[in-house]
Amino acid sequence: MIQRPRGTRDFLPDEMEFRRNIEMKMREAARRWGYREVCTPTFETQELYTIRSGEGIINEMYTFEDKGGRALALRPEGTAAVLRMYVNEAKVLAKPLRWCYLSDCYRYERPQKGRYRQFWQFGAELIGADTAEGDAEIILLADDILRAAGVTYDLHVGHLSPMRAILRDIPEERKRVIMALLDKKNMEGLEETLSSWHLEDLECSLKDLLEATTTDEVFAITGPIPEQERIEAVVNVLKTEDIQFRQNYGIVRGLDYYTGMVFEGFAENLGAENQIIGGGAYRLAHLFGGDDVGSCGFGIGFDRVMVSLGDLPVPENTVIAVLYTPEAREYAFSLSRQFRDAGFRTEMNLLARGISAQMKHAAKTARYAVLAGEREMADGTVTLRNMQAGNQRECTVREAIDGVSNGWE
Ligand code: HAM
Repeated sequence: MIQRPRGTRDFLPDEMEFRRNIEMKMREAARRWGYREVCTPTFETQELYTIRSGEGIINEMYTFEDKGGRALALRPEGTAAVLRMYVNEAKVLAKPLRWCYLSDCYRYERPQKGRYRQFWQFGAELIGADTAEGDAEIILLADDILRAAGVTYDLHVGHLSPMRAILRDIPEERKRVIMALLDKKNMEGLEETLSSWHLEDLECSLKDLLEATTTDEVFAITGPIPEQERIEAVVNVLKTEDIQFRQNYGIVRGLDYYTGMVFEGFAENLGAENQIIGGGAYRLAHLFGGDDVGSCGFGIGFDRVMVSLGDLPVPENTVIAVLYTPEAREYAFSLSRQFRDAGFRTEMNLLARGISAQMKHAAKTARYAVLAGEREMADGTVTLRNMQAGNQRECTVREAIDGVSNGWE
């Protein structure tokens, strides 16, 4: 037996239906905010991701050389490609641009619950609104989409500037090590590393910053910083909009392109991989040959949304099974068409089996059976049977369609 590759999944129809249903709710929420869907290629030149995505992503990338010797990579995330597309195709459009996407992404990670090698991200990018209002809109949009999906989660909102202010005198290389430990929330490692560098003072300020939950506490640690007003403005909008969140200035994000506001969300039922969303303000377009446009966005782990929602609901489909004797074959096709035209999922018998075998099959798969034999065909009628109640009656096609529409017992 050939197995699917590690870290990938198959989705059977019930699960696909559930995924599409949730996807639709998320798209609908995005639409109400004016975010329109875009699509970029599944693979891009490797360079797109090596420029600024950060080591984490580069080490996990699925890379390959095509027959023309080009170095390509499967998309590990959505933002870089969307900004590349903006530079290639949409620089002249009136800004801000509000775009969203649902894309499959690929990362060579160790698979576990909620962590896959092929996964889907529902992302949004707001391009060209480098303002507190833009930052706030992106967080409110993310919250609206996650609530539309039915997810319960904890939202953490922060900003990179306070951390950068504390680390301003630390050499770049050490800064990267500290940020990486913070991103992995490896506090023990952080303590050990800072002690080994004799940076005990820094350890104290960092600890205080990680514990700070108000802007007053933060600016008491950092002193005045230029971003203070913008940080306060975003926090104030979120408070007046009455969404549940906590301030967390220890968020550093794993990707290297963030420049300001950052946020993450953590959901229930997920175990260790509980980060359901990550995002923030960033600059990327100038690296791809465009203008230095400020942007802001997020990626929701769509598969984590599905894990968090839990068990599959029982699909509530009204299925019509069309059963017939061989003489009524063409009549059965016509009946099936009429039921489909009325909007019902209609499945005609396709196998050469007797009526009782057809009925047995319908008992497993359908809510109603529509039976046609020679007599029904001659009279232009059908025998309609409610498979659960076991009731049946002969009626015109129109009456049968009306009966099914009204849930006839
Ligand atoms: P990210 O935090 O790397 O950010 O990914 C976003 C979300 O994708 C994560 O919070 C997580 O829910 C989900 N995710 C990541 N890796 C996996 C995996 N292996 N399996 C399942 N789900 C996963 C980004 O990718 C940025 N592009 C977000 C962004 C958009 N920032 C600005 N705009």
